Amino acid sequence: MSQLSTLPGPDATASGPGDPVTPVVGRAREVELLVAALDSGAHVVLEGPPGTGKTTLLRAVAEQAHSAFVFVEGNAELTPARLIGHFDPAQVLEHGYGPETFVDGPLVEALRLGALLYVEEVNRIPEETLNVLITVMSEGELHVPRLGRVAAARDFRLVAAMNPFDAVGTARISSAVYDRVCRITMGYQGADDEAAIVDLKAPDLDGGWRTRVVALVRSTRGHTDVRVGSSVRGAIDLTRLAVSLARRRGVAATDWHVGLDAALVALSGRIRLTESCTRTPEAVVRELYEAQFGAEPTPDTDDDTDDDSDDEGGGAPGGA
Ligand SMILES: Nc1ncnc2c1ncn2[C@@H]1O[C@H](COP(=O)(O)OP(=O)(O)OP(=O)(O)O)[C@@H](O)[C@H]1O
Ligand SMILES: [Mg+2]
Repeated sequence: MSQLSTLPGPDATASGPGDPVTPVVGRAREVELLVAALDSGAHVVLEGPPGTGKTTLLRAVAEQAHSAFVFVEGNAELTPARLIGHFDPAQVLEHGYGPETFVDGPLVEALRLGALLYVEEVNRIPEETLNVLITVMSEGELHVPRLGRVAAARDFRLVAAMNPFDAVGTARISSAVYDRVCRITMGYQGADDEAAIVDLKAPDLDGGWRTRVVALVRSTRGHTDVRVGSSVRGAIDLTRLAVSLARRRGVAATDWHVGLDAALVALSGRIRLTESCTRTPEAVVRELYEAQFGAEPTPDTDDDTDDDSDDEGGGAPGGA
């Protein structure tokens, strides 16, 4: 069974009273490895497909350790100046160059604070910005023209995240980066854990129905026409959407048609089809939906609009 934990491990008691800690479902091994790697002084890259909990994991670890946490979205516009900081032109005119006129960027802020600097999508950032990070990891300090040396406080660590599958706009990060970091891979969660995550985000729904929603989302990852399937985010959205749609239609969230519409809206944009596939994403989602929830119920048998039970609607075959 999946378990919901605030961080396990030797420091499990360190969570102070009243401290909100991001709940992490499962992932005990990855948490342990990440905590140990950071403790040992290493910088870390978390590598895994979207939605596998990289940000959640790091946030929880930072909260547990009471570490400052500086978050940077990696993209092609993340120039060295944006990462490091800049001199405020108006202030410089008045006071000249100096620490008081420098506006810290996330890197300088993290170095000074001894924070965890979390760079998302590190493989999208420009080469020259990556080189700045390489220098900081090697030297433990940064030299900023006209500002001088900024040394890394003791607990400064870089944690970078990247999606291995996302070919659009991403480059392989260089071996110079890989040689300076430890690497933790995050695969898709197991079915029980995904169901527990959905329950965390959209609680109080019929367990059997939720299991099928998770099975549906997981089946997008193995379909021959699909290049990249949906993450657990698709299951979370599908579930929330079904609840909202059902309320508007005055039927149960488990209604077959509600589920199909929620699946189409939540999943058709998330799956990416193979180049050679001539079908639409909607057709693929519908096929997978019917595989989990059965064919469309005929109106005279069970249209679920008068549904008064919490069954799956539509006489679906066994789920996952
Ligand atoms: N182990 C987990 N415990 C609790 N929630 C989780 C877990 N894994 C994923 N989630 C939930 O799934 C969603 C996606 O997780 P998260 O943002 O951490 O993924 P990510 O790997 O950082 O994705 P991306 O690569 O797109 O940045 C969030 O809503 C998060 O709360
Ligand atoms: Mg993330």
